[in-house]
Amino acid sequence: MNLLTFRTEEDLNRAGAGLIASLLQTNPRAVLGLATGSTPIGIYEELVKLYQGGSVSFARARSYNLDEYVGLSGSHPASYRCFMNTHLFDQVDIDPANTHVPNGLAVDLEQECAYYDAMIEDEGIDLQLLGLGHNGHIGFNEPDDSLIAGTHAATLQHRTREANARFFDSIRDVPKQAITMGVAPIMKARQVMLVIRGESKAEIAKQALTGPITTKCPASLLQLHPNLVVLMDEAAGAWAK
Ligand code: F6R
Repeated sequence: MNLLTFRTEEDLNRAGAGLIASLLQTNPRAVLGLATGSTPIGIYEELVKLYQGGSVSFARARSYNLDEYVGLSGSHPASYRCFMNTHLFDQVDIDPANTHVPNGLAVDLEQECAYYDAMIEDEGIDLQLLGLGHNGHIGFNEPDDSLIAGTHAATLQHRTREANARFFDSIRDVPKQAITMGVAPIMKARQVMLVIRGESKAEIAKQALTGPITTKCPASLLQLHPNLVVLMDEAAGAWAK
């Protein structure tokens, strides 16, 4: 595990974007596993700048997002498809047909999850970007007695819905379920980049990265990943010094 802490948000964003850009420079057809939420926004902003400056192209890249809310269409402003279009896809030269976000409106959720897994299995993710939930979740793999390996429809914990209520008019509007990649596709990614920001995540970051490996803290499984890089700001990573 490579643990890096950064003095400023700008340094962290540049390092995260730099990792993705150098992958695309060496392998323009790279498959990116992408995340939403507050954590990756600054990294996407830096990537857009690199694209505008001509130092990176997404023209042949492909992407798979971690998750999507069940019941939201891609045009809903709080959907993860909409988030990705706004923060990255619409601002770079990626072919929209090569971007994948689970279909939250799928009539048959099981079939949608199997289809998503089959596509990922076929392509193989080169770099998976992850944020960390306050309860230790990755994607929407919530702490539990056991975890599900493949992509599945997950029931969101109240704390997760509370944390995400800021993107909706009220917590009542936050869907109760989401389709999420399971831990298997995440662990199979060739490289995982976990990004953690803010003091409120320091304790769970320490627990996930130095505590016991347990399904009660899904991110702790990342300790087993052979190629994990963790980017933290000083507030989240003070314990690592
Ligand atoms: C987002 C995702 C979630 C978030 C996590 C942290 O696609 O899968 O696991 O990464 O909830 O969210 P933020 O970054 O908003 O603190």
